[in-house]
Amino acid sequence: MIFVTGGTGFLGSHLLFHLLKIGKKVRAIKRADSNFNLLSNVFSFYTQDTQKYLDKIEWVEGDLLDIYLLNEALNDISDVYHAAAIVSFDPSHRKKMMKTNVEGTANLINAALGKDIRKFCHVSSIAAIGRAENDNVIDENVVWKTSKKNSNYAISKYGAEREVWRGIEEGLNAVIINPSVILGPRELNRGIGSLISMVRNGFKFYTPGVNGFVDVRDVAESMIRLMESDIYNERFIISADNLTYKQIFDWIAEYLKMPGPKYKATPYISEIAWRLEYIKGLFSNNKPLITKETARTANHTYYYSSDKLIQALDFKFLPVRQTIKDACELFLKNNN
Ligand SMILES: NC(=O)c1ccc[n+]([C@@H]2O[C@H](COP(=O)([O-])OP(=O)(O)OC[C@H]3O[C@@H](n4cnc5c(N)ncnc54)[C@H](OP(=O)(O)O)[C@@H]3O)[C@@H](O)[C@H]2O)c1
Repeated sequence: MIFVTGGTGFLGSHLLFHLLKIGKKVRAIKRADSNFNLLSNVFSFYTQDTQKYLDKIEWVEGDLLDIYLLNEALNDISDVYHAAAIVSFDPSHRKKMMKTNVEGTANLINAALGKDIRKFCHVSSIAAIGRAENDNVIDENVVWKTSKKNSNYAISKYGAEREVWRGIEEGLNAVIINPSVILGPRELNRGIGSLISMVRNGFKFYTPGVNGFVDVRDVAESMIRLMESDIYNERFIISADNLTYKQIFDWIAEYLKMPGPKYKATPYISEIAWRLEYIKGLFSNNKPLITKETARTANHTYYYSSDKLIQALDFKFLPVRQTIKDACELFLKNNN
């Protein structure tokens, strides 16, 4: 049986569907207040028989910070897929994020070390990989450096990945994936959903940065294929292409048949924007749309290589343009 964390989240819900589709038996963790809307939405993207697939999941209720629960949950489990984490660039989430991402991963690794686990797949991030000098392409060998430029999220994901490497040293068989920005069908207020909403609402600015992007279906598929392979104790960057944010906005605008953002938001404008958002947040309950960390990331240029994965699995990525098209079509279907 397979144990999945983060199954109520974006990547985890796609992963759950892919595992169920190939007939795997799955136990997944959810919290007492986990919302199932995203999971049902994602399943309905793949099938009309959403409930049939949802009913196949065996749920355990609890938290990654509960070591007794994890110990119980891993009884009779052969494979673990660890996709749960707090993904946030809001400075007020720093403490909670560190605890869940680093301590939560350490707890799961320790529980797995105490059981007869065949293989463990850890979802890390490109954020946990170091930066290359002079805009060079980043691969799995780039070394992490302590820097003020590292976001709290990146530091937490680096700490989490170190716990997995520690587990490997202590005898666990594992693979680690480091996805770039994951795009695909999901709720509208996050990820590509929020980019689509920005274009739809006539947002006028784009940032000049370049980043890696990948389809969520490719991330789920690569996790399963790595787990089924005889590859152990390696990390893999999962990124289909390196693109400007402008290109992403332009494709969204093309599929929505609307004008895309026209004006380049220079780093100076972005610095003002996140400060204004911060002040606005002090006087309202709304989360800031832009934070210091998101504004700075969107202005940087990072190129990632997935050659290692392509060679190891003969992997073929979906073109990012196709991902944008599918997400826009879903958006139009649900919002017209
Ligand atoms: N999204 C991206 O672009 C991206 C890129 C690279 C890597 N990643 C990595 O991919 C993984 C999944 O990201 P995502 O975008 O799918 O995130 P997400 O949609 O925010 O989902 C996070 C999941 O983690 C669960 N979770 C959080 N804290 C938990 C805790 N203390 N105990 C148990 N479960 C907990 C959440 O449960 P609730 O439903 O109860 O909140 C949810 O199921 C993360 O490891 C992230 O770092 C994401």
